[in-house]
Amino acid sequence: MKTVKIKFFISCLFIFFLISCNKQKEQKTETIVNVQPETELDLLALKEKSKLGKDTVITVINDPVYHKTKKYHAVNALLLLKNEIDLSKVDIKNTSIIFECIDGYKPEMPLELFLKTNPFLAFKDVDAPKGSNWEKIVKNGNEMNADPFYLVYTSTSTDNQEYKWPYNVIKFRLESKNKNVEALQPKDDEVAMKGFALFQKHCITCHAINGIGGEMGPELNYPKSVTEYWKENELVDYIVDPASFRHKVKMPTLGITKQESQEIVKYLKYMSGKKIEVRK
Ligand code: HEC
Repeated sequence: MKTVKIKFFISCLFIFFLISCNKQKEQKTETIVNVQPETELDLLALKEKSKLGKDTVITVINDPVYHKTKKYHAVNALLLLKNEIDLSKVDIKNTSIIFECIDGYKPEMPLELFLKTNPFLAFKDVDAPKGSNWEKIVKNGNEMNADPFYLVYTSTSTDNQEYKWPYNVIKFRLESKNKNVEALQPKDDEVAMKGFALFQKHCITCHAINGIGGEMGPELNYPKSVTEYWKENELVDYIVDPASFRHKVKMPTLGITKQESQEIVKYLKYMSGKKIEVRK
């Protein structure tokens, strides 16, 4: 009889131990918090404080902006990120890194991908003419320069579209990958879902919906949706070929087909019924 009691007691202990172990595990996963929107690096502020790290000269073969091999004075962007943000607290697989540019352009890529490469922040072009930091960039007939920073990579194929090479960069920001999706995804409409996928791929770097997205182009949903003041067929044609509507248009022709454009417009129409007041 006694041994039965002891056995029972030991089993109870064992079960108790198992349960408490599991609890600890649960708590552990909870401490890997999704990054907060405030996780950002203000590159100009870091420069002021001389916290960008060591200057080096790097070579970029077949630079996608200048279309030739270039040399830059640069700092190591990976070291910079690791110095400023404790990445052990970041859920890397589910996080995007967003590059904010002066004109509101906001390209992004998966943080995991960014961490696998050799990214550098170039701040001066070795071949720049006297009195300037950069060789000129000519785009759509406009002359530009890359100030203050141009994000480049020394070991990445320039054909890989997943890598972003923005210039005029001023901030890095880490954000949960699902943040935009949760806020902007249609729930119950298949065509609108297709349009949303296209919008994410081609438009969100420059345009916001309900205040979420890039700021290079205008917000498309709030307070008035573009579908409320454009004729539908013309909106479809505009998205395919903006230059056929506006002289010196800043929006690029993106290679969107008419059918894809129709799906995007269906999505924009869907969102016109889901306006959310945008906080300033
Ligand atoms: C590189 C940035 C960029 C991208 C990418 C981009 N746009 Fe634009 N878009 C602009 C800018 C800038 C304007 C302002 C007008 C102009 O082009 O000068 C604009 C204008 C527009 C307008 C007209 C708004 C109005 O009120 O007149 C619509 C609609 C539009 N874009 C939709 C889209 C859609 C849909 C996509 C994706 C398929 C897209 N844009 C991708 C930059 C962009």
